[in-house]
Amino acid sequence: MLSISRAPARRQPSYTAGMDAETLRRTSFVPHSTPFYVERAKGSYLYTDDGRAILDAGGGAIVTNIGHGRKEVADVAAKTLEQFGYVVPTFSTPQKVALAERLVANWLPKGLTRCFFTSGGSESVDAALRLVRAHHVAAGRPERWKVIGSDLSYHGITLATLSVANHAPRRAAFEPMLPAFPHTPNPYDNENAAALLEQVIKKEGPDTVAAVILEPVVGSAGGAMVPPPEFWPRVREVCDRYGVLLIADEVMTGFGRTGKKFAVEHWEVAPDVLVGGKGLAGGYAPMGGVFATEAVVAPLVEARQDLMFYTFAAHPLCCAIADKVLEIMEREQLVEQVAATGARLRKRLDALADHPNVREVRGLGLMLGIEWVKERRTGEPFPAGDRVANRVTAEALERGVWVYPSGSGTHQDCTMFGPPFVLTGAEIETIGSVTEASINAVVGG
Ligand SMILES: Cc1ncc(COP(=O)(O)O)c(C=O)c1O
Repeated sequence: MLSISRAPARRQPSYTAGMDAETLRRTSFVPHSTPFYVERAKGSYLYTDDGRAILDAGGGAIVTNIGHGRKEVADVAAKTLEQFGYVVPTFSTPQKVALAERLVANWLPKGLTRCFFTSGGSESVDAALRLVRAHHVAAGRPERWKVIGSDLSYHGITLATLSVANHAPRRAAFEPMLPAFPHTPNPYDNENAAALLEQVIKKEGPDTVAAVILEPVVGSAGGAMVPPPEFWPRVREVCDRYGVLLIADEVMTGFGRTGKKFAVEHWEVAPDVLVGGKGLAGGYAPMGGVFATEAVVAPLVEARQDLMFYTFAAHPLCCAIADKVLEIMEREQLVEQVAATGARLRKRLDALADHPNVREVRGLGLMLGIEWVKERRTGEPFPAGDRVANRVTAEALERGVWVYPSGSGTHQDCTMFGPPFVLTGAEIETIGSVTEASINAVVGG
């Protein structure tokens, strides 16, 4: 077993030639210790002003799907801005109509026919929480307000989304401000998770429960944890039994990331509400969406009670960009490629499965993860203060690859891989070898 090396007293790497640390300090409250200045991006690479090319194996924050720098996306953006600056989100525009049409016709799971656009994942989940509550109120069930989340999950950084999720480090400072949503054991650490969810619903009182929200594959909080195949179908049954709505948070898994258009399709489950973000506009625009069935929306329509919008929601620019990104994915059959490319990357990462500090290699499609532990044999984690996942990312950056640090709670040290869908074989090899060199550098091997 390799031992952890103490936090290194070595030079801080820098990724900029032209920017001094003082200038970069102004761009955030708590600047990263590594001055990282990205000047441009193309394909699967980020370019710094000191001439380095960094392979974007994390797709930013598991966002980039068609790759960076597509000219046809830029052209659509320019054309749209000539047509519109801004319109209030309740108005329809050609861009918004076209996007909704494409989503319903070609992308969304059957039955999800109503769209509500936002500017990102947190906003979308927050709106989904409002939607399920408004649904029950409008339907004459005002006692239903609780939304049950999973004990290992991340749904965003607003206070409501932090509450309904359970990402311990991200919640920590804000606990007194978080409404008390119930949580259910996660399916990764608990064999009978669907039965346990039923117990939570019964304990809370089914008549008080509005919805259950789950990530199909747990991302930031757990490093690409895939549930057992029976979990989602059983959850659907449990929700139906108690009149509870099912929200699938597909902010990270959606739009092809796991090798299907949406991850719930792996288990042939139809949620009542699906939340999307990240891949919807491929990172070219801040964009998210809440997608619902007619049945969810009907009581609101009946009561003439709309959901309040976010000022910048459904911006024509963002709608036009998302529509173009989805069109490119359709034309180049990129979702279809994810399964094959993901299998190749998975095979390369599986070569690390016997490493003494690897607990598991896991994931679906191009949403993959490795969980790091101090000792593989016992599963003992590293001391939390060692921040191993962050240090793996720092070492990988020095070797020219960006990987996404993740994990929380009992699975605190994970590295996630969510590269653009256009990844090549040579890049897969680079990701594998750099990841191995990076964990070895962290543990002093
Ligand atoms: C599953 C999930 N939901 C919600 C969010 C929040 O999205 P955003 O960061 O765009 O607000 C994330 C972000 O990582 C996520 O992974």
